Amino acid sequence: MNEHTYKKESVHHSGENGRRNFLKICSVVLTSLIGIAYAIPLIRAFISPAMQDTVTGSSGLFDIGNTNDCEVNVPRKVPIKGIKIDAWNKFPTTAIGAVWILMDKDKKFTAFSTICPHLGCGVDWDEDSGRFVCPCHDSYFDIEGNVLSGPSPRRLDTLETEIKQGKLFVKYQKMKLGISEKIPT
Ligand code: FES
Repeated sequence: MNEHTYKKESVHHSGENGRRNFLKICSVVLTSLIGIAYAIPLIRAFISPAMQDTVTGSSGLFDIGNTNDCEVNVPRKVPIKGIKIDAWNKFPTTAIGAVWILMDKDKKFTAFSTICPHLGCGVDWDEDSGRFVCPCHDSYFDIEGNVLSGPSPRRLDTLETEIKQGKLFVKYQKMKLGISEKIPT
């Protein structure tokens, strides 16, 4: 074998090796992609329940108590209690939120979410000024939930109410934050 033939052989071999390495890398990448494609639904099935809290009430309605407990035009804060279920646990009756209940002189009830529509802080009732106040960024709302000032993009969220046998029930829902429309999450 002369020097010229030897060089040609060696170039030929290194080309073969390069192709083999390239095919090996392709097969490893392909196998990994197939593995990931199979793993994603499994991982999602395992993790997603942990990210979902389900709260049960009787058909979404929560018992707020006796309607006689309210005074005219004095908002009353009432805890919402329900059975909370996360990924793998069912908790006994737990406070899962709260609502402001307002009764007007005609005994008409309005339920407001206590969650500020801006970024979700708790809204308080300030008896002295007769306004709802969110202390986080100073949003103020009148007794009907309308925005008086501050960054809240919408009025306080009202929740559906129902009276059954002298008891008030509220459909407790959380709404999307930071937007002008009231949209359940
Ligand atoms: S969270 Fe209420 S004003 Fe920002």
